[in-house]
Amino acid sequence: MDRSNLIDRANEIAGVARSLSDNLAARGLPEPSFEHGLPAPLQTDAPDSDALAARVKLLGVLDELRDLLTDPALLGSPELRNPSMSILALVRLGIFEKFPSEGSTIKDLAQQLNLNENLVRRLMSHAATYHVFFQEKLDFFVHTAGSRILTENEGMRSWMLVGLGETIPGALKIAEAISQNSNSEEPQHSGWSVQNATDLPVFQALANMPERAKVFATAMSWLAQLPGYSPQYLIDNFPFGSGDITVVDVGGGIGHIARALVEHSPLVQCIIQDRSEVILQAGKTLPAQLQNRIRFQAHDFFQEQPIHGADVYLLRHVLHDWSNKYARKILQALIPALKPGAKVVLNDRIIPGYGEAHYLKEREGRDYDMYMLGLQNAQERTSNDWKALFSDTDSRFNVTSVSKPSKSYLSIIEVTWEG
Ligand SMILES: C[S@@+](CC[C@H](N)C(=O)[O-])C[C@H]1O[C@@H](n2cnc3c(N)ncnc32)[C@H](O)[C@@H]1O
Repeated sequence: MDRSNLIDRANEIAGVARSLSDNLAARGLPEPSFEHGLPAPLQTDAPDSDALAARVKLLGVLDELRDLLTDPALLGSPELRNPSMSILALVRLGIFEKFPSEGSTIKDLAQQLNLNENLVRRLMSHAATYHVFFQEKLDFFVHTAGSRILTENEGMRSWMLVGLGETIPGALKIAEAISQNSNSEEPQHSGWSVQNATDLPVFQALANMPERAKVFATAMSWLAQLPGYSPQYLIDNFPFGSGDITVVDVGGGIGHIARALVEHSPLVQCIIQDRSEVILQAGKTLPAQLQNRIRFQAHDFFQEQPIHGADVYLLRHVLHDWSNKYARKILQALIPALKPGAKVVLNDRIIPGYGEAHYLKEREGRDYDMYMLGLQNAQERTSNDWKALFSDTDSRFNVTSVSKPSKSYLSIIEVTWEG
């Protein structure tokens, strides 16, 4: 039953807040407060701590309440993304990198950046109302937890730049991209390409924009090291077996999954395939003791798979980058190489279908889908979408299991070739 009652939610908030407060007090930790600008003491908690679970629960119920109380006329209003107005500008102007020591003045910073003092003050004052920088007296700024993270963590700063500067502006141009090329599944017909006035897909276009490409790469590396993307989930939960098996990691990047895999399973041999420029870099870093069990191979995954008869063909976080047309091509290119019983294993995101999860979870998944649509006309998929992708490609693909290790962002879809 829908809990449309405001009082139910308020009571729930009070109960969870009380248990969180007790939990913090028991561990001698301060409660979050505005006094020093949004300290985030829970940030450092273990991912499975009660305190973090309470915080996630509270944020969820508060989102529900906010949604219930939002004037429908304001839904989708840009003001819901207000913090980005100054924070994106501050990141792009390099203020977080150049932030002088705490307590220095706006005047110092403006001089250092060669910018108008009033402009710097206005941008930082706006950010301060979102608790990113804490304004003391009139002229002095000190860090908050938020500004400190943005100052110290280049990965997080890059992720913010990609989100606010590339992904969201691209997604806001989806309508224009669709109007210009209705029903296209080509990666260059994306909102991002419209926004950037290019005929190229995002990563080809970025190859000519080294600064932005570097930020993108830094953001992606930062993302990949988040605990939810750990290769361990795949390794612990996939029956690669202890036997003598060959795994082809298609679009395997620099090979961190394959390395973790061969270290875990002594009899596994791995071939890592990617574009030649990636392989050239990745191959250089392979430790000597792994060289007889890992091989790198330049291979375009739209061309026929050259390694015949392997036991497993792994596609990790690859197909979500492509529309169905191209995802089918990638799968079709595997078929001539597949022996009966061979496994195609996907390790990719599964988003909830309509009504399959709380709407905030579904919204999060659907947000990712819009980002992928806006960025490269690609797609996040529900469980049914993945199954349909395989059955539409070839009826001999049999989806034999679908699972999601708890706390992993990616699911494991195991497909058996019944050819
Ligand atoms: C999102 S990354 C995933 C990398 C790796 N599987 C992982 O899980 O970290 C997608 C990979 O696909 C590769 N790729 C893109 N186009 C390709 C193509 N035509 N042939 C082979 N690899 C390609 C990219 O270079 C990149 O390494």
